[in-house]
Amino acid sequence: MKIKPAMRISGRVSVPGDKSISHRAAIIAALAEGPSRLTNYSTSQDCASTLSCLRGLGVSIQQQNSEVLIGGRGMTGLNAATMPLDCGNSGSTMRMLAGVLAGQSFDSLLTGDASLCSRPMKRIVEPLSLMGSSVHATDNRPPLRIEGSKTLQPIHYVLPVASAQVKSCILLAALKAQGRTEVVERLGPTRDHTERMLRWFGVPLETQAGVDGAITIAINGPVSYAARDVNIPGDISSAAFLIGVAAVLPDSQLRIDNVGLNATRSGILTLLSSLGFAIEIRNPREDCNEPKGDILISGKVEKRPADSNRPPRVAGPLIAPLIDELPLLAVMGSQLAGGLEIRDAGELRLKETDRIAATVNNLRAMGALVEEFEDGLAVTGPTALKGAPLDSFGDHRIAMAFTVGALLANDDSELTGADCVAVSFPEFFSLLDSVVQSRV
Ligand code: S3P
Repeated sequence: MKIKPAMRISGRVSVPGDKSISHRAAIIAALAEGPSRLTNYSTSQDCASTLSCLRGLGVSIQQQNSEVLIGGRGMTGLNAATMPLDCGNSGSTMRMLAGVLAGQSFDSLLTGDASLCSRPMKRIVEPLSLMGSSVHATDNRPPLRIEGSKTLQPIHYVLPVASAQVKSCILLAALKAQGRTEVVERLGPTRDHTERMLRWFGVPLETQAGVDGAITIAINGPVSYAARDVNIPGDISSAAFLIGVAAVLPDSQLRIDNVGLNATRSGILTLLSSLGFAIEIRNPREDCNEPKGDILISGKVEKRPADSNRPPRVAGPLIAPLIDELPLLAVMGSQLAGGLEIRDAGELRLKETDRIAATVNNLRAMGALVEEFEDGLAVTGPTALKGAPLDSFGDHRIAMAFTVGALLANDDSELTGADCVAVSFPEFFSLLDSVVQSRV
């Protein structure tokens, strides 16, 4: 795909429903008693994978555009799938469904595409095994074979990685465990959509913050609950790419309505504001237990980082609330006086592709000076990016981050493998076209 540099971006848009929240809404509704109507369900391929796996387990699902009717089958109503459950590219689908399937009376096989089949699963095999489930992976990678007929035991589990997928996997398994399961987050809070969604469906769930800052989430199993409708906010991780372009290009003025603003996800907004980018929230409100609002972005930087000799550093507990925005942030860092350093983000190497290597590669192709670390990168700025041949490495977030890079560049770029944006944001290019003014 050829991408021309942009001059500015302006307009008023909305983005499709949040991918993370949509997965949870569908899975939790499938385990409820009775039908739930989900509105503004994500249009992503990943969330379609979740629906197709649930169908494979006997859940009746009717979908009309972004409205999905889920026929909840209750905690004991799923059926054995007759075929392997294909999670496509979606780590969330596989890891969360593994938690659900660990407590079923039948065997299951979860598989996915080549990228997903290369991702680490020990992080869920370990806690599920402690709960008494038999989960088999080859070399700790998918496919995952989960043996049924198990009674799950409750566990007290301190998460060894800051991962919402792992936390959610355990919490979903805990719904069927005999007793009180506790999951402890010591490495900083990760997205809490599962906790919020379970509460929305009336599942009693306790959350407690310790003196050391650790958060313990507890569920007393077994649990059953009734169906409930869910309206899903727009996806902040999709909105972020539009925000990135609007924030950097002078004279831009963009409004994005109805975006999820959960603090465990909105780290990108806090950070960009602290770097001096002009971001305003309008109409903050709450819907179905999730905060949301409208975001206004103007393309002007109001202040520069205090000490532009030292790049601003994004690390530690700042990472989890913007984990999916880091490739974009690195691109934006190349435009900052003083550049940007990202550390403690080794998890990025375990995403759909090695996102540190992919980001460094593409930034260097565009002429940026980048240092690569095992757990992050440092990019020098401000840099006038050159148009370049860019590669998505088959990863949707890399494709979109470097579309942003290409829009900010001096001349045309060519992006290979742009189609993968559909994994999270199929409307990305058409939405951009509707708001971008190209340079002539
Ligand atoms: C997700 C959690 C994050 C994130 C992924 C979606 C979720 O992964 O990167 O895109 O929906 O829970 P980890 O939990 O593995 O960090």
